[in-house]
Amino acid sequence: MRIIKMLPEHLNDVRVLLERCFGESAWSAETLRSQMEKADSRCTVAVEDDVIVGFLAFEQIADEGSIVEVAVHPDHRRKGIARALIESALSDDSLKEIFLEVRESNMPAIRLYESLGFERIGIRKGYYDKPKEDAVIYRLPFLREPARSD
Ligand SMILES: CC(C)(COP(=O)(O)OP(=O)(O)OC[C@H]1O[C@@H](n2cnc3c(N)ncnc32)[C@H](O)[C@@H]1OP(=O)(O)O)[C@@H](O)C(=O)NCCC(=O)NCCS
Repeated sequence: MRIIKMLPEHLNDVRVLLERCFGESAWSAETLRSQMEKADSRCTVAVEDDVIVGFLAFEQIADEGSIVEVAVHPDHRRKGIARALIESALSDDSLKEIFLEVRESNMPAIRLYESLGFERIGIRKGYYDKPKEDAVIYRLPFLREPARSD
């Protein structure tokens, strides 16, 4: 499995992957393209045997990052692909904290984030539609050693 930057030629395959993962609430092709082209956004894909099996949209403004979307094809789950996609986005040394929101019923995603060290910091009431549901807000603090002055 390789993790590479998403390119315009991946748009269609990623769109199909998102539809498989999120059904009718999946991003449209236009939303996906604008996310990929946004200045602060980094979209990556996981590729296995030349097939796109995972997708991550990550945004970074100054030292603050956010996980906007992560999805892995149902046939390729529990193989560490989502973890690898997220860890590759977190390797940027300038990051100090990462935030994300997740549906409170989305246990696989909640387990994934908690296994990576994300901590629950709050709830956004009625944040999601179709179906209406609260979002849980998670934060991952980076406790890097301060530079030594001696
Ligand atoms: C959530 C999702 C991205 C996880 O992808 P994945 O590649 O299967 O996750 P990983 O294999 O990297 O899992 C890493 C860890 O997360 C946890 N985890 C992931 N899926 C889990 C599940 N179904 N049940 C319990 N724990 C789970 C486990 O701790 C796992 O480690 P382990 O397999 O060693 O026990 C995937 O289920 C998915 O695409 N779901 C639909 C889209 C979605 O809901 N995205 C999140 C939106 S916020």
